[in-house]
Amino acid sequence: MIASSVSIASLLVATACFAVGDSTAYQSKTTKPNIMFVVADDLGWNDIGYNNHDIFTPTLDSLAREGVILNQSYVQPVCTPTRASFMSGYFPYRLGLQHKVLDRSEPAGLPLNFTLLPQKLKEQGYTTYMVGKWHLGFCKYNYTPDGRGFDHFYGYYNAAEGYYNHSVGGYLDLREDLNPDWNENGTYSTDIFVHKAIQYLIGHNQSNPFYMYLPFQSVHAPIAVPKKYYDMYSFIHDQSRRIKSGMITAMDDAVKAVVVALQKLGFWDNTLFIFTTDNGGPANPDNGGNNWPLRGAKTTLWEGGTRGVAFVRGNLVEKTGYVNNEMIHAVDWFPSLLELVGGKRDPDMDGMNVWNTLTRGDPSPRKEFVYNIDEVDPAGEALRMGDYKLILGHAGKPDGWVPPPSVDGLWHEIVLMKDHEEETDYCYAPPANATYLFNIKDDPTEHFNLADKMPEKVKEMTVRLQELKKKLVPAIQVPAEPEKADPRKFGGVWSPGWC
Ligand SMILES: *[C@@H]1O[C@H](CO)[C@@H](O)[C@H](O)[C@H]1NC(C)=O
Ligand SMILES: *[C@@H]1O[C@H](CO)[C@@H](O)[C@H](O)[C@H]1NC(C)=O
Ligand SMILES: *[C@@H]1O[C@H](CO)[C@@H](O)[C@H](O)[C@H]1NC(C)=O
Ligand SMILES: *[C@@H]1O[C@H](CO)[C@@H](O)[C@H](O)[C@H]1NC(C)=O
Ligand SMILES: *[C@@H]1O[C@H](CO)[C@@H](O)[C@H](O)[C@H]1NC(C)=O
Ligand SMILES: *[C@@H]1O[C@H](CO)[C@@H](O)[C@H](O)[C@H]1NC(C)=O
Repeated sequence: MIASSVSIASLLVATACFAVGDSTAYQSKTTKPNIMFVVADDLGWNDIGYNNHDIFTPTLDSLAREGVILNQSYVQPVCTPTRASFMSGYFPYRLGLQHKVLDRSEPAGLPLNFTLLPQKLKEQGYTTYMVGKWHLGFCKYNYTPDGRGFDHFYGYYNAAEGYYNHSVGGYLDLREDLNPDWNENGTYSTDIFVHKAIQYLIGHNQSNPFYMYLPFQSVHAPIAVPKKYYDMYSFIHDQSRRIKSGMITAMDDAVKAVVVALQKLGFWDNTLFIFTTDNGGPANPDNGGNNWPLRGAKTTLWEGGTRGVAFVRGNLVEKTGYVNNEMIHAVDWFPSLLELVGGKRDPDMDGMNVWNTLTRGDPSPRKEFVYNIDEVDPAGEALRMGDYKLILGHAGKPDGWVPPPSVDGLWHEIVLMKDHEEETDYCYAPPANATYLFNIKDDPTEHFNLADKMPEKVKEMTVRLQELKKKLVPAIQVPAEPEKADPRKFGGVWSPGWC
């Protein structure tokens, strides 16, 4: 689990070696901003320094302080749906991606009739790069990053793999465009990805602006960390939490290396830097993630699964150095970025242009959003309208609140829930047919169910959900085809070409 690896410090030195002398000579020749969109995988609410002083993220913290911390930036409960929202501007229930994540042998992907953000940005003159995790389908070329608007792709197609062996079920999942990369066995993925991102930046033709989508493997399971970072957390005795904390700091250093490269290459002043998680931290204490004090975790409709860590930083951001409490959703990045650089959103798109909220702190045009509508048993749906949140059906497992492990090495006793006082198990699944109404402004931790007290609000929001459901595209549920997908047919590599 813990191994030494190429240190990020040596990478920083490498970056310095690429220094181009007088960086003013390399000032970007474009007026459209470069866009650096960084995604952390499974990073919980309590897993970043500015929300938790036990986590060292000095680079992310200072970038956030130089920019705007987004305190109500919502994402989907799991990975594929959130990434689909970033890429399409549509809520997953309109894409058929509302139910779980794509399986490695599932002949499906983000439906091909949607035009993705990188394709739209190319129309605006952007060069597009992706480095990291895709997880939006790969059974045929048209589903892969190269087929969907990325000029260059380096990374992996699946949900999770070894951080050092880049292997999924015994077969390689690491490539540059269509070419498998067998040379990185033993190197920590965070190091590989930051190195590759910097290489792309160095090779970038400065006549054009760039969009770089950098979804790290960090800090998803199977948790693993270079020893240097593990050693920084000797005060945490819970092993999983200690490893996870080190992984977060390793990612922070990787972000630092990217920022230094952007500065040295003269891109920084004209780069809009966005950082977000894809969903909350997972519940399993063996995983080490944490969403305290929010309720629930990854895979649930509770805030712990859906209220994401995020910030934005860049010279285009006019009002900075504060915490913005306006409501935004993962679907909003697509139209906000596209319209910022001269494109036009599809009028039917769920995403809204929230640029004035991001840059000036204006009230968000977003007054409601769908947490999810999953019609597959056990069905669950949730809607936000203003300060109110309605959950109908299955909110997802687990329920409850989990504080971070204390330094004594024990996870604190699970905090009792006010509305299920008899339950002590965090992994307890809430009733599959519940109705919850919360005022998220007054009660962001979802302790007080107002459903009985405010039946008219429940009714109003239920009616709205019914109306929104008319646009639901049934969840894509195609049987896995392990024989067709078998990597042995493709030289031992997870590859497109089987659907
Ligand atoms: C794509 O196809 C789905 C399913 O047929 C449809 O609901 C949706 O409106 C289409 N979207 C676009 C952008 O064409
Ligand atoms: C790759 O690493 C993962 C995580 O450590 C491990 O579970 C898996 O067995 C390894 N696979 C191979 C082929 O070595
Ligand atoms: C990586 O190296 C390990 C140890 O040598 C080996 O067992 C594994 O098969 C290799 N994995 C890949 C994907 O090459
Ligand atoms: C850089 O891009 C510009 C504009 O697209 C093009 O004219 C030029 O040839 C490119 N330079 C290189 C070195 O590819
Ligand atoms: C769910 O709750 C509704 C409203 O209380 C009730 O009418 C319905 O029968 C319940 N369904 C199940 C499966 O328990
Ligand atoms: C961020 O949101 C949380 C939860 O609603 C709230 O308690 C906190 O005060 C907010 N932070 C700031 C600085 O507004």
